[in-house]
Amino acid sequence: MSLPAFLAALDELAQAAAAAFAAADDAASLEAARVEFLGAKSGRLKSVQQGLGSVDGADRPAAGKRFNEVKQQIQAAFQEAQERAGAGRAGVVRDRDFDPTVPGRPFRLGRLHPITQTIEELKDIMGRLGFTVALGPEIEDEWHNFEALNIPADHPARDPLENFYLASAQAALGAPVALGAPAGGGAPAAVGGAPLLLRSQTSTVQVRVMESREPPVRIISLGRVYRPDTADATHYPMFHQMEGLLVDRRVTMADLKSVLRLFAASYLGADVHIRFRPSFFPFTEPSVEVDMSWKDRWIEFGGAGMVDPNVLRAVGYDPEVYTGFAFGLGVERLCMRRHSITDIRELYKNDVRFLGQF
Ligand code: PHE
Repeated sequence: MSLPAFLAALDELAQAAAAAFAAADDAASLEAARVEFLGAKSGRLKSVQQGLGSVDGADRPAAGKRFNEVKQQIQAAFQEAQERAGAGRAGVVRDRDFDPTVPGRPFRLGRLHPITQTIEELKDIMGRLGFTVALGPEIEDEWHNFEALNIPADHPARDPLENFYLASAQAALGAPVALGAPAGGGAPAAVGGAPLLLRSQTSTVQVRVMESREPPVRIISLGRVYRPDTADATHYPMFHQMEGLLVDRRVTMADLKSVLRLFAASYLGADVHIRFRPSFFPFTEPSVEVDMSWKDRWIEFGGAGMVDPNVLRAVGYDPEVYTGFAFGLGVERLCMRRHSITDIRELYKNDVRFLGQF
């Protein structure tokens, strides 16, 4: 091959390679161009190099020099194209309408309602004390809300004005309520005209759990309860309770006090004090009101006591063998005390300026 022919082949190669690498705008076309021009076995640079051997001996140094220049040019073009592609991957946007200096749209993250947060924490604390969670329906029959809890038909707590009785069983069954499966696995009960009501206390779940299994029982139940109270700073017609129930052999009032004391210390802090005041509930004997003092203020958080033998009998337990304690605490009160919320209605207005603080 003559020197001019070799040099012309090199020039043509240099031009073609420059155009190919300049046009390569993604990883695939860049790789194709690399193989075409720089491929070790059958790349075009390689095949031009093979022509070098046939150049006349005297012309060979000049041909070799030019060959090396073109080789370096092509390699540089490849490197540059590679850097361009890398920069594209790192986020250089080629769309001319995209303005990276425009501030992004702020997005608001949702969060759990303070009552939900409180419930999760209560489950956690009681879980560490060995209590598992039991659920019950919010529509109840009179057996679970009253009868089995030793509340007779003429008891003032059963006054229709003190409860949300449902107009008819049929209406109740049509209603999309029944949150959570009944602990006993049955339906929300009392078809055929028997009165139904929105449960007024979570003690209903005690009955359902004991009906469905043998002692030992160690459960908490957290959920909504309903009472026709006028809403004010401390009352709301719907609120939440945490019910606790422990039934076993030789359970005493001292166990009740220890559990509540451990609970209070976990929830409010080691500097909390608790006290029991004598009280009355039809389903516990003896019964107490539970107060907790935190930061120098006593607040009543709920009721408690030793499960009444009549209740144990109603669910088929032998009160000569088993004893137990039960307590019911107001979840809103616990939440409000912790966060210094002074009006329960704030919890149910759903004002995000309020809810966003927790
Ligand atoms: N059920 C009672 C109430 O709603 C609280 C309570 C629960 C009392 C368990 C004693 C034992 O007021």
